[in-house]
Amino acid sequence: MRNLKFLTPVLFLLVLFTSLSSMQSPTAKGEVQKDSLAADRAMHIARVKDVITGKENMPADSVFSNIKIFKGVPAGRILAIMDIGYSQSLGVSCGHCHDTNDFASEIKPEKQITREMWAFAAKTRSMLKDIKGLKSETPMVNCTTCHRGQVKPALSLN
Ligand code: HEC
Ligand code: HEC
Repeated sequence: MRNLKFLTPVLFLLVLFTSLSSMQSPTAKGEVQKDSLAADRAMHIARVKDVITGKENMPADSVFSNIKIFKGVPAGRILAIMDIGYSQSLGVSCGHCHDTNDFASEIKPEKQITREMWAFAAKTRSMLKDIKGLKSETPMVNCTTCHRGQVKPALSLN
């Protein structure tokens, strides 16, 4: 009897902590993952910024070695596109599309897919212009419209 009396509060606390941690873990885990992705991106961006210091306003194709779609765009802007436009909209870090030791490399298929997705989004925007009666004057479609922080866009609400 004495043993059981001692065990009851212990068991109660155990059950409480287990249910509390299972209640908190999905969001907490998501936040930790988000933070570590952001830290990884910041680290890579700082590395590239170091290399291009003083050339931020020069055309990307004269600063980087393998530019196909961003010819003429200021080199500094490329980094914002990489961070916000690409990585955050897909919920990834740079390594999803790059060999991060060689950003010019084409080793990851996701890099070329992204060039084609860019063209796909542009085509979609131009079709959108022909639809009459929309609420926005310049209705927009970009990576986030479909991806919303996921590599694979959702197909339904469930
Ligand atoms: C969803 C895919 C994707 C992600 C994520 C991504 N990039 Fe890129 N990156 C590209 C594509 C595509 C190009 C080539 C653009 C072109 O052809 O004009 C590129 C080009 C570059 C280049 C120029 C390389 C060269 O020498 O030609 C750098 C530097 C770069 N990215 C850095 C980054 C950094 C830093 C991150 C993370 C913050 C990142 N990228 C995330 C797709 C991506
Ligand atoms: C109109 C909707 C739409 C837009 C806009 C769009 N995508 Fe996608 N994207 C898709 C779909 C659908 C897939 C295929 C998912 C699958 O495999 O079923 C995909 C797949 C991808 C993939 C390959 C999946 C992987 O393994 O990473 C990449 C990379 C990608 N998109 C990047 C982008 C980027 C970057 C942009 C913005 C320039 C963009 N997408 C804009 C719908 C879209």
